[in-house]
Amino acid sequence: MSSAPATEAIVATGLTKGFGEGAARTTAVNAVDLVAHFGEILFIVGPSGSGKTTLLSLLSGILRPDAGKVWVGGNDIWSLSKDDLADFRLNTIGFVFQDYHLFPRLTSAENVAIPLILKHEDWNDALAAARESLAIVGLKDRAEVLPVKLSGGEQQRVAIARAIIGAPRILVLDEPTASLDGDTGRMIIAFVKQKILDRNRCIVIVTHDARINEYADRIVHMEDGRIVSANGRHA
Ligand SMILES: Nc1ncnc2c1ncn2[C@@H]1O[C@H](COP(=O)(O)OP(=O)(O)O)[C@@H](O)[C@H]1O
Ligand SMILES: [Mg+2]
Repeated sequence: MSSAPATEAIVATGLTKGFGEGAARTTAVNAVDLVAHFGEILFIVGPSGSGKTTLLSLLSGILRPDAGKVWVGGNDIWSLSKDDLADFRLNTIGFVFQDYHLFPRLTSAENVAIPLILKHEDWNDALAAARESLAIVGLKDRAEVLPVKLSGGEQQRVAIARAIIGAPRILVLDEPTASLDGDTGRMIIAFVKQKILDRNRCIVIVTHDARINEYADRIVHMEDGRIVSANGRHA
């Protein structure tokens, strides 16, 4: 690992989330403590069903925990008002969903512009910014194309361009290589690490794809909703 990043981007303590009632109840995330730092790319790995997506959702302000706290930039995010939480999601965290969540009837540029539209920016300014963001991920020439015309790797990059358009300090990717072949998946992660990670940013990647482990600064393992061991700095 390179020089130790100093600042904590995310601090989670005692995070717990269950689904269902009675005998059918499952504890998807069970008393998880986790720290992610600025300047690092943190991998959360574990088998399917181990609670990775649920944990990311709790950290990102998408899903409210049953217990525990998430601190981001000194804010206890789950004590924010509904409006402040929405602002937090819009300004501080970029989330790349496992299946991209691109709108099929919108072009690449329109998809990427959405966060700025939600911030009430002018449509033309937002589209211009979207084209710049697409250029960063190497898709300048695909701005006017609908998602159906894009390869899986290109759709993944459009989703990344959309996640970074507002320059969030934290970027979260859920299984970013799941639908990609090995080479494309590695290219995407290498790209994210080289172009997007800097000492003011924190990247959290959930994966069960061992082929990309070499890009992690630190890896934590999940099993049955718990973090079972940490590699490198203690989680
Ligand atoms: N919305 C939900 N409703 C009910 N059960 C869920 C829901 N989301 C996740 N689970 C359950 O929680 C556990 C962890 O799921 P998940 O966080 O998706 O794991 P992973 O991303 O590691 O595959 C699984 O048993 C899953 O079935
Ligand atoms: Mg998942």
